[in-house]
Amino acid sequence: MHSATILSLVPFLSSAYAAETILGAYVFHRHGDRTPKSLAPTNLTALGYEQVYTSGQYFRSRYLTGSSKINAISEDIVQLTQLDVTAPVDKVLQTSAMGFLQGLYPPVKTVQTLAGGRSIQAPMYQLIPVNTIETGAGSEDSSWLQDASSCTNAKASSNRYFTSQEYSTLLESTKPFFQSLVPVVNNTLDPKDVTFKNGYIVYDLVHVAEIHNESVPSSNVLSNETMFQLRTLADTHEWGLAYNISDNTRAISGMQLAGEILNYMNGTIESGRKGSSTNKFGIQFGAYATFLSFFGLVNLPQVSADFTGIPDYASSMAFELFTNADVSTAFPTNEDLQVRFLFHNGTASNSSHPTVYPLFGGNSNELSWGDFSRGLSEFAVSTTKDWCIMCGNAAGTCAQYSSTGSGNDGDNSEKQSSGHGSISPAIGGVIGASVTLAVVLGALAIAMLFGGFTLVHKKALRDSTTAVNDKTKP
Ligand SMILES: *[C@@H]1O[C@H](CO)[C@@H](O)[C@H](O)[C@H]1NC(C)=O
Ligand SMILES: *[C@@H]1O[C@H](CO)[C@@H](O)[C@H](O)[C@H]1NC(C)=O
Ligand SMILES: *[C@@H]1O[C@H](CO)[C@@H](O)[C@H](O)[C@H]1NC(C)=O
Ligand SMILES: *[C@@H]1O[C@H](CO)[C@@H](O)[C@H](O)[C@H]1NC(C)=O
Ligand SMILES: *[C@@H]1O[C@H](CO)[C@@H](O)[C@H](O)[C@H]1NC(C)=O
Ligand SMILES: *[C@@H]1O[C@H](CO)[C@@H](O)[C@H](O)[C@H]1NC(C)=O
Ligand SMILES: *[C@@H]1O[C@H](CO)[C@@H](O)[C@H](O)[C@H]1NC(C)=O
Ligand SMILES: *[C@@H]1O[C@H](CO)[C@@H](O)[C@H](O)[C@H]1NC(C)=O
Repeated sequence: MHSATILSLVPFLSSAYAAETILGAYVFHRHGDRTPKSLAPTNLTALGYEQVYTSGQYFRSRYLTGSSKINAISEDIVQLTQLDVTAPVDKVLQTSAMGFLQGLYPPVKTVQTLAGGRSIQAPMYQLIPVNTIETGAGSEDSSWLQDASSCTNAKASSNRYFTSQEYSTLLESTKPFFQSLVPVVNNTLDPKDVTFKNGYIVYDLVHVAEIHNESVPSSNVLSNETMFQLRTLADTHEWGLAYNISDNTRAISGMQLAGEILNYMNGTIESGRKGSSTNKFGIQFGAYATFLSFFGLVNLPQVSADFTGIPDYASSMAFELFTNADVSTAFPTNEDLQVRFLFHNGTASNSSHPTVYPLFGGNSNELSWGDFSRGLSEFAVSTTKDWCIMCGNAAGTCAQYSSTGSGNDGDNSEKQSSGHGSISPAIGGVIGASVTLAVVLGALAIAMLFGGFTLVHKKALRDSTTAVNDKTKP
């Protein structure tokens, strides 16, 4: 009310207090509805396609055409220098990105006149490359992004969850609960694997069947209450693998995402300063584990415990770089730049918009660029060297950094060597994970033999069953 009065009294000043201008945005997006992980190959479904497409339409109306339009972004015909779209090498994530882009930049008629005056009209789809993450923006420095599960220390850290008190307690106390679910999933999973240890796999199987109204044996077991308990147990399991405040190496995918966001926004700002109109909208598709790791790192569970739950399909988080300064003459100074964070659980649409949340345990919905970039830099991993050091990897691309010796002096190696027993926790954890995988794999092989499932490509099967620990897989 107050500001409205002031504006109406001094209308000639209103342009100085003009509405904010969005200078750039970065969106991290989960894939749409898909088939279950345990029945590889996992596919995006028609519902999933519709979800990401709707979300693309929503972000079109937010950032390309609406009142929060990104300054000087091309509205109808994509300018590839303004947009950067990435997704890991994964069928569900790549196709989700494409579906999203169809909603973001709908078909247009393009006609070209050739030598001799002949005109041709292209098919109307707009062609937008979805870069795989290892060859994405930043090129040379991005090769390490290809697979978070190759990060040795992160894997070990995640696996320490399986040796934690919290985990063992739940594993024991939920045995009867999971036992009651055996008749529901024993077509696919070996009864002895139906425990909290495979909490997410069990949940995923049942959840997908529920969405698609597939007939489930003994479905009478699946009351709303049981479904709720199964979901929250899966949440606890996945959160445990994705984040631990006192051992956060496992959140490497969230750290990488922070690095990506900072790099991209830096590009938005630097290009704006040079007067060029590039690097405006970054879009990345990725897995729920990355959301969870990132939520933990930026302290969102302090805002709501909901952030420790797995985000729904087609969820999105958005980072908006904006200013209240006048942008008509020059690009704003760093002091005039601000960032806000938004999240939407599930498909964003005209009828359900993303919500703003405060980051870093603060209570402000808007951060200065300085505070935002300092906050993310606390844990952001933005170079191959950082990644190699953080992960304790020494082979391949990382070999060049390991000879310095400094790579192993960080607190990560300290954590790894903190075990007092004959076997370090890191090694114990890795063994634990391999056992899990072998067990589930075995169950699937048997299910395929006797259950008549289509035999699947070995690689795809491995992908789907290692998913518990693999932050790049949907
Ligand atoms: C995914 O699609 C492939 C063919 O594209 C099909 O063979 C496979 O059965 C599908 N997976 C599921 C779980 O439906
Ligand atoms: C988090 O890490 C600490 C220290 O390593 C450990 O004591 C605790 O059990 C862990 N919590 C979970 C849920 O993994
Ligand atoms: C699954 O469990 C039910 C009930 O215990 C049993 O009747 C059925 O034979 C089992 N199916 C498989 C494939 O083991
Ligand atoms: C779900 O499938 C059953 C048969 O398998 C059918 O009777 C029922 O109407 C379906 N429910 C919905 C909501 O489509
Ligand atoms: C279970 O949940 C569904 C949808 O949330 C609701 O329609 C249904 O009434 C619930 N059933 C019971 C028994 O509470
Ligand atoms: C962008 O990154 C470069 C190189 O690290 C740095 O010098 C510059 O200050 C950054 N720009 C902003 C706006 O943070
Ligand atoms: C998103 O929804 C799921 C339930 O579908 C819930 O478990 C999770 O906590 C929600 N996340 C947030 C941040 O609201
Ligand atoms: C969403 O709302 C915007 C602005 O109100 C409108 O231009 C757009 O057509 C709507 N999109 C859909 C899919 O309804």
